[in-house]
Amino acid sequence: MQPRHLVITGATSGLGLAAVRSLARHTDIHIIAGIRATSRTETLTKAIPSDRLTLLPLDVADLTSVRAFAAQVIASGQKIDALALNAGLQFSRGDLRSPQGFELTFATNHLGHFLLYTLLAPVLAEKAPVVTISSGTQNPNETAAKRFGFRDGVWTSAAALAQNAPDPTLPHDQQGRDAYAASKTANVLFARGMPRHAPHTFIAFEPGAMPGTGLARTGTLRTRLLWHTLARLILPHMGGSTPRRSGRVLARLLTTPGLPPGSYTDFTEGVGHPHPLTADPALQDELIATSRALTRI
Ligand SMILES: NC(=O)c1ccc[n+]([C@@H]2O[C@H](COP(=O)([O-])OP(=O)(O)OC[C@H]3O[C@@H](n4cnc5c(N)ncnc54)[C@H](OP(=O)(O)O)[C@@H]3O)[C@@H](O)[C@H]2O)c1
Repeated sequence: MQPRHLVITGATSGLGLAAVRSLARHTDIHIIAGIRATSRTETLTKAIPSDRLTLLPLDVADLTSVRAFAAQVIASGQKIDALALNAGLQFSRGDLRSPQGFELTFATNHLGHFLLYTLLAPVLAEKAPVVTISSGTQNPNETAAKRFGFRDGVWTSAAALAQNAPDPTLPHDQQGRDAYAASKTANVLFARGMPRHAPHTFIAFEPGAMPGTGLARTGTLRTRLLWHTLARLILPHMGGSTPRRSGRVLARLLTTPGLPPGSYTDFTEGVGHPHPLTADPALQDELIATSRALTRI
């Protein structure tokens, strides 16, 4: 049997690691994981036999690193059967910068992944699943995200968000939340807009609140304590999820042929609630054109 090759970012912890554990059950799957720090790979290397795992360096916030990673994947000569654009962080402020000078949340959660997809597109199998990881925070009118301080109205334009958090006059922590929600809106605009431009199966996945992952790592001590203790006990019973549960769904999205391109799926495998603005082709195309220009494709 020919092995299937899957590229994934952010597989050292949380959702990405859980997805790899689930994918490891398919003995024909080979994982190519983009890894920022080799010191964080111990758990991942235990999740799947070593002859079915390739680790390559990748800082997805750094466009130079993305180019080097993509070049190594292409040089391997493998056709890629699925791409999981999973790495992501939420920062406690909105004024951090990527190596190329972009707002760091937007650069990490969207722009680097946009470039990665574009560079790998020629070696992706026809109709290969390309999954972005969004979040209920992109539509706080529909979810509990409001309780965590997320708000509506954070999408300005890709051109503006690449430079600054939606409102740089707000306190740092709100800027951080706004930048995160905006980047997760970009993940949906990308998945819903790209089917007009390319033949792959773009899907935006909403994994639900998964307390205990590394996502809150730059938050205050109180936030981190809550995220790793109380939230872990309570949220899965209040409409939230766990990395294990959502990882299984992500693994299925990456391995199930024939899913509808441009769809938005949540961790219950139902149709989620993307923000209505993400259906606007003009906003989708502004994101795609701006991302092409910023990554100089
Ligand atoms: N947790 C939630 O409740 C939740 C809800 C909705 C959506 N999500 C989304 O789910 C995805 C996974 O997050 P998680 O909750 O599993 O958090 P996590 O445990 O912190 O995992 C994030 C992963 O992304 C990697 N990463 C971060 N920045 C990177 C960079 N610049 N270059 C390369 N890798 C980088 C991390 O690698 P390192 O080991 O190097 O740090 C880690 O492997 C994210 O897109 C997040 O936005 C999470």
